[in-house]
Amino acid sequence: MSEPRVLVTGACGCIGAWTLATLVSEGTSVLAADLASDPARPRLLLDGDDLKRIAWTRLDVTDREAVVRCVGNEGITHIVHLAGLQVPFCKANPSAGAAVNVLGTVNVFEAVREHSGQVQGLAYASSIAALGPTSFYGDGLVADDAPRRPETLYGVYKQANEDTARIYWQDWEIPSVGLRPYIVFGVGRDQGLTSDLAKSILAAVAQRPYHIKFSGKVALQYAPDTARMFLGSARSGYRGAAVCNLRNDVLEVDHFVERVRAVCPGAEITAAADHPLPFPADLEDTRLQEVLGGDVPYTPLDDAIRDTATRFETLLAAGEIDLTQLDG
Ligand SMILES: NC(=O)c1ccc[n+]([C@@H]2O[C@H](COP(=O)([O-])OP(=O)(O)OC[C@H]3O[C@@H](n4cnc5c(N)ncnc54)[C@H](O)[C@@H]3O)[C@@H](O)[C@H]2O)c1
Repeated sequence: MSEPRVLVTGACGCIGAWTLATLVSEGTSVLAADLASDPARPRLLLDGDDLKRIAWTRLDVTDREAVVRCVGNEGITHIVHLAGLQVPFCKANPSAGAAVNVLGTVNVFEAVREHSGQVQGLAYASSIAALGPTSFYGDGLVADDAPRRPETLYGVYKQANEDTARIYWQDWEIPSVGLRPYIVFGVGRDQGLTSDLAKSILAAVAQRPYHIKFSGKVALQYAPDTARMFLGSARSGYRGAAVCNLRNDVLEVDHFVERVRAVCPGAEITAAADHPLPFPADLEDTRLQEVLGGDVPYTPLDDAIRDTATRFETLLAAGEIDLTQLDG
């Protein structure tokens, strides 16, 4: 069996950066792939020596042959596929959204199919947005296999990813685990609809006022925990096409703000009064527990907020963080 070598697509994104940091800390061989060539987010987490331990490649996941070649030539054994365009970008440019989120994911599955003797595990990012609005579900926890009724193009594309995975298992026995993050927060979470929570911590540390544009009950996943969920899933040896809800902290946005204030007294954070996100937050995470053998990575919320605030403090003092992300 060849030495483990992990391909991370979308490696310059938030979850990608944390996945790289986890792999580097383990000493695992990693190929970081992204369309972007500036590893701005990984740089927030890793020093120069650690960045040099990573092999980098510019890869457009919409290019089938390039993805297939990369996986084969680089001896990839596991894939964490994170490359994607988020809700606002898919709405602004549906064709580009479909190309990256749908075709890009098909291409990753194609690469695994072409190198099925070599690739041992694939985890890919779906999203809570593949589900329907809160009102679509009754009381109680929403199961992993609850019916889906996405209400954004982004959600429709993620639904297509989940069904692509199902057919690759059915037709070619290509196993995969799809994860549905809800709100990932931490250093590096600087874009997308729900990045306001991470930005509110940055604003608190920078002593700037900040308004969170949504309210209601949400499920939160701390970025380093999320990275470990993806890696654990890719390495799980799961046989089938699992699609997993993520849970961890389920709480009201107002309560999150209180917890940030407890860590950063004097934080001037407000939240929209009545603007809930259109997704159910109380999700069952039975399948993820099953895939990860009951060991779902979890950092207690107060520790996660404190760690994020400390990291932002250090980055701000070093002039390494761009505060324009707090505008608008
Ligand atoms: N962050 C969240 O709360 C959240 C919630 C649900 C789902 N997700 C999903 O998880 C994944 C990772 O999220 P994130 O927050 O790290 O996203 P991000 O937006 O920070 O990063 C995505 C990365 O994909 C790259 N990319 C875009 N087009 C590409 C292409 N054609 N080829 C290669 N790379 C390309 C971008 O350059 C970027 O570095 C995404 O698929 C996202 O939809 C995230």
